[in-house]
Amino acid sequence: MPQMAANDGLREEFNRWAGEGKGESMEKEHRPIVEPTLAMMQFARDEAVLDVGSGGGWLVRELATRVPQGRVLGIDVSNEMVERARRATAETKIENAEFMVSSVDAIPREDNAFDKVVSVESSYYWPDPAAGIREIFRVLKPRGSAWILINYYRDNPYCHQWAKLLQIPTHLLSGDEWAKLFRSAGFVRVAHQRIVDPTPTPESYTGRWFRDAKELEAFRREGALLVHGSKPA
Ligand SMILES: C[S@@+](CC[C@H](N)C(=O)[O-])C[C@H]1O[C@@H](n2cnc3c(N)ncnc32)[C@H](O)[C@@H]1O
Repeated sequence: MPQMAANDGLREEFNRWAGEGKGESMEKEHRPIVEPTLAMMQFARDEAVLDVGSGGGWLVRELATRVPQGRVLGIDVSNEMVERARRATAETKIENAEFMVSSVDAIPREDNAFDKVVSVESSYYWPDPAAGIREIFRVLKPRGSAWILINYYRDNPYCHQWAKLLQIPTHLLSGDEWAKLFRSAGFVRVAHQRIVDPTPTPESYTGRWFRDAKELEAFRREGALLVHGSKPA
């Protein structure tokens, strides 16, 4: 079963990330592209929302405050990420959020369960992105919508070097290719656009993802890819 083996590899890698505190530190990196996306999603207070690849759970907690009479589920293939997300959420007053260990290819919910699905910086790791998008389509209610944010995509040349740096297989697709996967799954009103990260670039960069601060600046100028679509009525 290649999918199961792939999920084991993902679990191992992201359990390592969790142990390094990345579940928590990714909030700072991803919030600048997530905030404009949440504004577009226009939540009603009683909606059911799913976050796929919820990591440290910061977005699930944010969503829970936006749907106070609804419910939010975060799923993640990494049990360590889910543990940490549960622990951090237990320290808050939030009562309408939960987390489950699960891969996107078998979401533990019945058909038509959610009004909205969001996923941030996760989909290019999924062993079979087309199957993941079909599964999201299955759990969405008619008229529900899916919103996927991606920093690693073919149209942005300043992220292609990540393939060598990441220790797990990834899918480098273009905006058009992601949109095609949405349409093939049955989504309508499919579109993709760029979400520019307005964070000021530091004068020097010492991390491993970019050669220097100039490259980081160019990467941010290209923006993240946001792909979205709706399930027909
Ligand atoms: C780069 S992290 C992003 C975490 C979080 N969305 C955030 O923005 O802070 C990617 C997350 O996706 C999860 N993930 C990767 N493949 C997955 C899959 N097939 N199903 C569910 N979660 C997955 C990882 O375990 C990890 O927590």
